[in-house]
Amino acid sequence: MNEKFALITGGAKRIGETTSRYLHEKGFNIILHYNNSEAEAENIGEELNRIRKNSCSTVKANFNSEASINKVVAKLNQITKSLDVLVNNASSFYSTPIDKASLKEWKDLTDTNVTTPLFLIQALAPHLKEAKGCVVNISDTLVKNGIKEYSLYSGAKSALESITKSLAKELAPEVRINGIAPGAILWQDDKDLSDEEKSSVLNKVALGRIGRPEDVASTIFFLTQSKYITGQIINVDGGRFSF
Ligand SMILES: NC(=O)c1ccc[n+]([C@@H]2O[C@H](COP(=O)([O-])OP(=O)(O)OC[C@H]3O[C@@H](n4cnc5c(N)ncnc54)[C@H](OP(=O)(O)O)[C@@H]3O)[C@@H](O)[C@H]2O)c1
Repeated sequence: MNEKFALITGGAKRIGETTSRYLHEKGFNIILHYNNSEAEAENIGEELNRIRKNSCSTVKANFNSEASINKVVAKLNQITKSLDVLVNNASSFYSTPIDKASLKEWKDLTDTNVTTPLFLIQALAPHLKEAKGCVVNISDTLVKNGIKEYSLYSGAKSALESITKSLAKELAPEVRINGIAPGAILWQDDKDLSDEEKSSVLNKVALGRIGRPEDVASTIFFLTQSKYITGQIINVDGGRFSF
């Protein structure tokens, strides 16, 4: 049987969880990366393996550590030498007003949002080439115009978008590399936004509603199937106005 494999970073919760389940439903075997969400990852793994035997493996790695890349690659090598889809979804996200921003925060935000995605692509390029596979890097629709008090996060995601376009040229024609820039999809768990704050965001969205994780997951799947698209960043933001 011609098995297909997808590796999703930060795949145990929120958009990552929906993506893991969505791609599994579409027939991919899943390698689900997590960091702190061990219980959630193991539960999803058990559930997906009940649906299809040996169709989901999990790997824990903290992207603040250099060893994380080798850990993920070693896990993948136990399962397959051929990777159809890498989704760089894991991310840290918090505000860093410039008067207080620290090197530690810059390191953390770049580690998760750009450094690890970049070196995962480097390490997995042979596996992706073998499968004629693709990479989907998850960015953020707001970074194009800058985000007040999020300059470090925004800088990291902008670098990820730029790297996406460069590597699309470098790894072609075997590997396609695209990005998705979501708008407001899920409110942050740790921020209790008032109804007023939520409507001020939604007032800037043409479609007038918050997105759903499925809106991102289905676009990832679309990119896995669209063999003539590379080097693109697709906004999945309901038509977010930039003002
Ligand atoms: N939510 C939105 O509305 C929205 C809007 C624009 C862009 N995005 C982008 O879409 C993607 C998914 O968004 P989300 O809100 O679902 O993400 P999230 O919940 O903020 O984070 C996804 C996962 O990243 C992992 N992660 C964080 N720090 C890590 C580290 N040091 N090492 C390894 N993994 C780490 C966490 O895994 P564990 O839980 O296992 O620790 C977490 O579950 C992100 O790239 C985000 O920037 C989201």
